[in-house]
Amino acid sequence: MTAEPLEPLRVERSAKPVTPITLAPPTSLEPGVRADGLLRRGERLFQLLDAALGRFLPVAWNPFLHTGAVAITSLAVATVSGILLLLWYQPSVHGAYASVAAMGEAPLTAGLVRSLHRYSSDAAMLFILVHALRIVFERRFGGARWLAWVTGIAGLGLLWLIGWTGYWLVWDVRAQHIALGSARLLDVLPIFVDPMGRSFLTDEGVNSLLFFVVFFIHMLLPLGLAVALWLHITRLSRPRFLTNRPLTVWLLASLVLVSLASPATNAARARMTEASPGFAMDWWYLAPLALTDRLGGGALWALLLVGGAITFSFPWWMRRRRLPKAFVTTSRCNACRQCFEDCPYNAISMVPRTDGKPFPEQAEVDPAKCVSCGICIASCSTIGTDLEGFGLTPLRRRLEAWVREATEAGSPVHVLFACAESSADDLGVDPETGTCAALPGWRVLAVPCTGWVHSLTVERVLRRGALGVAIAGCAAGSCHFREGDEWLLQRLAGVRAVEVSPEVAESGRVLIAPLAGLRGRALVRALERFAGRETVVAAPPPRRPLVAAAATVLGLAVAAVLGTVADLGYAAPGIDGSELVVSFKHPGAVSEHCRTLSPEELEALPVHMRRPEVCDRARADVRLHVSVDGKPVLDGRYPPSGIWGDGNSVAVEHIPMTPGEHHVTVAIGDTHDPEAWAFQIEETLGFGENARRVLTFDRLAGFRWH
Ligand code: HEM
Ligand code: SF4
Ligand code: SF4
Repeated sequence: MTAEPLEPLRVERSAKPVTPITLAPPTSLEPGVRADGLLRRGERLFQLLDAALGRFLPVAWNPFLHTGAVAITSLAVATVSGILLLLWYQPSVHGAYASVAAMGEAPLTAGLVRSLHRYSSDAAMLFILVHALRIVFERRFGGARWLAWVTGIAGLGLLWLIGWTGYWLVWDVRAQHIALGSARLLDVLPIFVDPMGRSFLTDEGVNSLLFFVVFFIHMLLPLGLAVALWLHITRLSRPRFLTNRPLTVWLLASLVLVSLASPATNAARARMTEASPGFAMDWWYLAPLALTDRLGGGALWALLLVGGAITFSFPWWMRRRRLPKAFVTTSRCNACRQCFEDCPYNAISMVPRTDGKPFPEQAEVDPAKCVSCGICIASCSTIGTDLEGFGLTPLRRRLEAWVREATEAGSPVHVLFACAESSADDLGVDPETGTCAALPGWRVLAVPCTGWVHSLTVERVLRRGALGVAIAGCAAGSCHFREGDEWLLQRLAGVRAVEVSPEVAESGRVLIAPLAGLRGRALVRALERFAGRETVVAAPPPRRPLVAAAATVLGLAVAAVLGTVADLGYAAPGIDGSELVVSFKHPGAVSEHCRTLSPEELEALPVHMRRPEVCDRARADVRLHVSVDGKPVLDGRYPPSGIWGDGNSVAVEHIPMTPGEHHVTVAIGDTHDPEAWAFQIEETLGFGENARRVLTFDRLAGFRWH
C-alpha cells in the first residue's frame, strides 16, 4: 500500500460552473435481464420487509435473509422426524390409516413427531417459495447461475413430489384424490398394461404393491433432493447452507409451537366408491388437486410440460445480453491468491504458472462460472484482474479527471460509488458525466457491486482532490453477489487485502456502512449530511429484549401462516348426482382366417416360403353394451392392448346417473361376431347421492358389484 499523505481538506468554493467531462456509458451495467424495472419493483417489497424487520432483528436473525438455509434446516427436521415416524407407521394400504390415526392418541410423542414432520415440510416449502421469489426479483438467475436455477427448480419439483407421495401414505380422502389425480396423469403414458385408475375403483381393488411402491418413492426421493441441492450450491464459495444457532432455535420453537397448537390430523378414511364433497387439506403441497380433480390427463400433461419448459428455461429467455466476464492478466499476477479467496462463485482457480515468472501458480477465471460481480477486481493489488467492458484503469482515469476538473474549477466534488443493482437505481445518474440532479456537488459512478471498488481507487480519488468518498450498496445480508459488501468493509477495516490505508480509513472522508440499504431520498439525505461534515452513523443494533420480542412475534406469525395454509378447506368437485362405473379387463377371442394363395402370389414369394395356404390370427375387440331402465347409454369397442395388439382389452367407463333405483343391463361380447354377447348381467340397484356403484368383470371372477 502507498503511504502518500493525503491532501488536507482545504476547499475554496467558487461560483464558476463546472463542465463535467464525459465518460462513455459502461456497457457492462446495462440491465442484463428483461422486465428489469418490474422485477426491481418486486425487489423493493422485500427491501421494505427487510428494513422493517431490521429495526427489531439483527441480520443474523432475519429468516427472510437466509431463506435457503432455513429451508435446508426445515428439510433436516423433516428427515429426522420422518425416520422417527417409522416407529409407529404401518406401510400397508390396510394398516396405514389406522396407524396414522393412532398417532393422534399420543400427542406428545408420535403425534408431535407427525406434526413436526408435516410442519417442517411446510416450512421448507414456504421458505423455498420466498427464496425463489427473491431470486427472481433480485435478478439473480442469469449467466453462470443457470445451474443453481435449474437444480433449484428440480429440487422444488422433487420436494413437492415428496409431499404429494407423503400425503398418499395416510390413505384418507385426501390420499384418495391424490391417487386418482396421479392415475389420471400416469394413465396417459403407455407404461402400464393395466391402467392405474383401475386400482382405485373399489376398496378391495386397491393395489397393495402400488402402495408400497409409493412408500418407497417417498423414502427415496429425498436422496434425489440431496443430490439436486448439492449441485445447487456447488458453484458457490462458502454457501450459507445451514441456519446459525439463533435461527435454528427460532425455527424449532416455531415448528413445535404450531405442532402443539394445531396437531396434524387425518381426513375421513378413503372410500373408493364414495366422493367426498370437501375436506381440509395442506395447500402447501396439495394445491394441484384443484387441477388434477378437474382436468383430464392430456391437459395435465400439457400444463406440466409447458409450465416446466417455461420455468426451467426462464434464465435463458429472460436474458437480454451476455454478461461481461472477469479475466486475469497473467503477467501482473504474483500468485497472492486473494482473488481466488474472494470470488463468491468459485470462478477463480490457481493453476500452474505458464509464463515462466518465478511464482508457482497463477490465477485463472473460468468464464462459465463468472457472474460478472467484479469483486475480484478489488482483490488484486497489481490490477491483475479486470472486468470486460468495465476496465478499472480507464474508469479510474476518468474519475480522477472528473475530480481534477471540478477541483481546478474551484468547486471540488464528493464521489459516490453506487451499486448498480441497488442504490444507483433511483438516483438518475448521467453515466457520461457522473452528475446527478439530486446530488449537486457529487460525481457518481454506478458499479457492478460495491465489492468492485478498489481501495487504491478510493485513495487516488481523494488524493486528486475529492472532498470525500461514499460507497452505497445493498443492505447488510442481501448483497446481490453474496459477499461484495462484506469484503469491502473488511478492506476498509484493514483485515482483507487490498486494504484501505489506515490514514484514509480513519480520515472521516470515507463513508460506507451507514449507507448500506439506503435508497432514493434517504440516501441523498445521508450523503448531504456527510458532505456537510455531519457525522453519519449506521442505526444502532436493536436492543436484546426487543430482539427476543420481535423473534417471538415473527415465530408466531410464521407458525400461524404454516398452520392456516396447512388446514384450509377444499371443495372437491364430487359426483354430479350419482355414477355407474363399469370396468373390465378381458381378452378378445382369437380367430384364424385362412385362404389359398393364387399362382401369381406364390410366384412372387421366395421358393422356401411358398405355401398353398396362409392364415392370419387376430384378437377381436371386446364390446360393451350398457343400458339403464331399458335405454342404451353406452356402446363401446375396446381394442386389444400391447404393441402386437394381442393383449387384454381394458375399459373404465363412468356413466352419470340420477340418484334412485335403476334397472341396469350390461353385456360384454368378445368375438368378431357383433351379435354375440358372451357375458351379461342385469340388476335393479339403488344409486345414492354423491356415490358410485362399480361393476367389475374379469374372466376368473366374472361380474361383481361394489
Ligand atoms: C429446493 C429447495 C432449495 C433450497 C434448499 C435452496 C437453497 C439454497 C441455498 C442454501 C443457497 C445458497 C445461498 C447463499 O449462500 O448465498 C441457494 C442459492 C441459490 N438458489 Fe436456491 N434453494 C432451493 C430452491 C431454489 C429454487 C426453486 C430456485 C429458483 C428459483 C433457487 C435459486 C437459487 C439461486 C439462483 C441461487 C444462487 C444465488 C446467488 O448466486 O446469489 N433455489 N439456494
Ligand atoms: S489477486 Fe491478483 S495477484 Fe493475486 S492471485 Fe489474483 S490475479 Fe494474481
Ligand atoms: S467477477 Fe471475479 S469475483 Fe465475480 S464471479 Fe467473476 S471471477 Fe468471481
